[in-house]
Amino acid sequence: MESPLLRPHRTPALHLPNRVAMAPMTRSRADDATGTPTPLMAEYYAQRASAGLVVTEGIWPHRLGKGGPSVPGLTGPEHVAGWRRVTGAVHAAGGRVFAQLWHVGRVSHPEILGGEQPVAPSAVPVPEGLIHTASGKREYVVPRALSAAEIAEIVTAHAAAARHAVEAGFDGVEISAAYGYLGSQFLSDSANLRTDAYADRVRFAVEVTEAVAAAIGPERTALRVSPGNGDLGAVESDPAARYRRLLGALDGLGLAYLHVVESGAYPALADLRPRWSGTLVATYDGGAEPGGVRRAEEAVRAGLADVYAFGRLFLANPDLPRRIAEGAPLNPQRGSGLYGGGAEGYTDFPRLGEAVRVTAGAGS
Ligand SMILES: Cc1cc2nc3c(=O)[nH]c(=O)nc-3n(C[C@H](O)[C@H](O)[C@H](O)COP(=O)(O)O)c2cc1C
Repeated sequence: MESPLLRPHRTPALHLPNRVAMAPMTRSRADDATGTPTPLMAEYYAQRASAGLVVTEGIWPHRLGKGGPSVPGLTGPEHVAGWRRVTGAVHAAGGRVFAQLWHVGRVSHPEILGGEQPVAPSAVPVPEGLIHTASGKREYVVPRALSAAEIAEIVTAHAAAARHAVEAGFDGVEISAAYGYLGSQFLSDSANLRTDAYADRVRFAVEVTEAVAAAIGPERTALRVSPGNGDLGAVESDPAARYRRLLGALDGLGLAYLHVVESGAYPALADLRPRWSGTLVATYDGGAEPGGVRRAEEAVRAGLADVYAFGRLFLANPDLPRRIAEGAPLNPQRGSGLYGGGAEGYTDFPRLGEAVRVTAGAGS
C-alpha cells in the first residue's frame, strides 16, 4: 500500500507534491558577524528540495532575537541577497521553502548580542542549563523585561522580516512560538508574569501572526507551536485551554498552515486537529530518538495531520521522500557537524545509490 505521506496536498497558495516536510533545524553555518547565509547553505537546502515543503532553520527577525553563533538573520539587504541564493537553489531543484522567523527572547547571552542584555516578557531567566556562545558555555543571564513599545517594535520587525523573506524569494514564513523561545515565553505562565495587556498569554503570538499575515498575506503565513512542551523552563500549566484559545483567534485568518509539535506532555494533535480548519503540519518530538515514519503515516492516515515534518531523518537523508516510497534503509545521523562547521555532517550525507561522500578532513 502506498504511504499516505506520498499523496499530494494543497495549502491555500501551494501545491505540495508530498506530505513529507523538512522541519526547521538550526545548523549555525551563516557568517557569524553579519548573519548572512552562505553558498553551502544553498547547497544543503537544495539537496532536500524533494520535500513537500522545506522549512529553514530559525532566522532572527530583530538583532536581539539571535540565539547563538552563526545563526542567520533576515533584517537587511545583505541577508536578502544571501537568502535569494538559497531560495533560487531550492526552486531550481523543484522545491518550495518557508523561512522560519525565530526570536529567542531570553534564550541568548550578551556575548551573542554584541554586549546587549537579552529581552523577555519578564525578568525571569531560563531556570537551568547553559548557553553555547562563541567562547564556550555560559550561564543564562537575567533578561530585561520588554516595554510595550519594544513589543510593538518586535511585532513590526517580524512583519518587516516577512517582507524581506518574500523579496528573497521564499514561498512564505513560519513564525516560531515553540520550544521555549520568545513566542513560547509569552505563552508560558512561568516566563510571562506581566500584568499589562500581555498578561493575556496568547496576545503576542496573535499580534505577530496578524502583522505578518497583513504584510505578506495569510496564505504565506504559518505559525509553529509546541503545546505543553515546557522546554527551556517555559512551562504552561494548562495547555489545552491556552492553545484552544490561540487557535480560536487564528483559525479564521486563512493561514498557510499551523505547525504543531507534539511531545507527549499533552495530546496536542488529537485535541487541536478538530479545532483547526486549515492545513495542519505535525512533528513528533520524542527527545533522543528522531520521529519515525510509521508514526507519521498513522497520523496522516487518521487525519490528525495533513503534512508531517521530519527533523533529524531529513538531516541525514536528503532524499527522504524517495526512501519512504521505496522502503529503503535510512542513513543514520552522525554526532558531528550538527551545529557549526562546514560540509561534514551537513551536505555529505549520501542519496540512495550514492557512495558515502568523504569530506576532506572528516574522520580525523
Ligand atoms: C539540530 C536541530 C536543530 C533544530 N533547530 C530548530 C529550529 O531552529 N527551530 C525549530 O522550531 N525547531 C528546531 N529543532 C526541532 C526540530 O524542528 C524538530 O521539532 C525536532 O527535532 C523533533 O523532530 P525529529 O524527531 O524529526 O528530529 C531542531 C532540531 C534539531 C535536531
